[in-house]
Amino acid sequence: MKDILIIVLLAAGHLGFSHSVFAERTYEREAPPRELSPAQAKLAASNYQKYCALCHGDNREGHKNDHAPSLRSKSLFESGVPHSILRPMSYGRVGTAMGGYLDEVGGPMTLDETWDLSYWLFWQSGAERVKLSEKPVIGDVVQGQKVFKENCTACHGKNGEGITAPALANQSFLAHNKDEFIRYAIEQGRDGTPMPSFSGKLSAADIDNVTAYIRSKASEAKISKIQLKKLPTPDQYVVNPGNGDPEFELQDGKFVSSEDLFAAMKAKKRLVLLDTRVPSVWQRAHLEGSVPFPYYSNLEKRMHELPKDVQIVAYCSCPRAAAEYLTAQLEQLGFDNTAVLYEGIFGWMNLGYPVVRAAGLGSE
Ligand code: HEC
Ligand code: HEC
Repeated sequence: MKDILIIVLLAAGHLGFSHSVFAERTYEREAPPRELSPAQAKLAASNYQKYCALCHGDNREGHKNDHAPSLRSKSLFESGVPHSILRPMSYGRVGTAMGGYLDEVGGPMTLDETWDLSYWLFWQSGAERVKLSEKPVIGDVVQGQKVFKENCTACHGKNGEGITAPALANQSFLAHNKDEFIRYAIEQGRDGTPMPSFSGKLSAADIDNVTAYIRSKASEAKISKIQLKKLPTPDQYVVNPGNGDPEFELQDGKFVSSEDLFAAMKAKKRLVLLDTRVPSVWQRAHLEGSVPFPYYSNLEKRMHELPKDVQIVAYCSCPRAAAEYLTAQLEQLGFDNTAVLYEGIFGWMNLGYPVVRAAGLGSE
């Protein structure tokens, strides 16, 4: 605990680098979180493989699908445990491929399992926690915007909407993370990822300014709690059961476009629509008539729920990874009529096609 980590920041300011002043930000260590019992660690490791490896990678390296961040970067676990890990895992980041995994929002994991997986990830990372406060980081938002434009937009997007790097203007990201967590990521970077450390490149003041700019993107909108819908039962899976089949021209033998799928739905063709994301996000918004059938489903148990003679279209938000993962397994089990929605559900919505939303949610 006495152990103090010293981070050297260049305060170049208006004097320029030749007259730069060094400012030091020091961080105290935070006591480590509890250790897991062997049984808890075993379950956490298997939950990781089952639920997270698809996007975050078999070895937590990140960027396997849809630019999911690294879950082994030391700087993340130094600053992020527990809440910056637990909250995205539990509630997801609305509007990104990261869905919520906690049972309370319709996901597969219990509260204990989410805590244990957060701590398991921490212990795997080998990080030591630093103490961060809840205090706001004060800075000049206008100057921060300039710094952002010059240094961050290539990866995080012009307005922080995310490209190859996380969406920093995302309301769940902002609601779930404190300012000092955000500043720590900018100072330290995220080791083992494309996120560079800016502590030698920007002055301490500009790091505060850009942090304040990111914070200024938070709206006052409340994170809404939704009423969970009942999941459909197998007898309800086929949409328009009495009608004719669609005749899709599949791109690469596998992909159906949003346009063709929407036309088939409008023409009331017979279909099974599988939503392969974690079910908590099906609860928030889904294609009409779709069935929550997550990528981690136990197919030995569930394949009997699906008809072999009906066209199956699977979709996800990553934008195809989870759907392709599931349909590849279905094909091996003899399902010959499978297709994947090419644009994914976000692409579908961006094209203006309709979704069914949870009661109480506006457009997000
Ligand atoms: C379908 C792909 C996908 C799956 C599966 C997935 N994630 Fe993510 N995750 C993402 C993406 C994409 C982001 C970044 C979203 C953004 O902010 O733009 C993310 C972000 C996160 C973050 C925030 C990391 C940071 O740097 O702040 C954590 C923590 C996380 N995920 C944990 C998990 C865990 C634990 C699981 C398994 C229970 C999981 N994720 C499953 C795609 C996924
Ligand atoms: C070369 C691309 C690149 C640039 C430039 C860049 N970043 Fe990043 N940033 C990333 C990536 C990739 C991640 C996710 C790291 C991971 O995989 O864990 C990230 C993560 C972050 C995070 C943590 C997000 C989270 O979900 O926890 C913050 C905050 C951040 N960047 C801020 C900035 C700011 C501010 C700038 C400009 C001063 C910047 N970044 C410049 C690529 C970049």
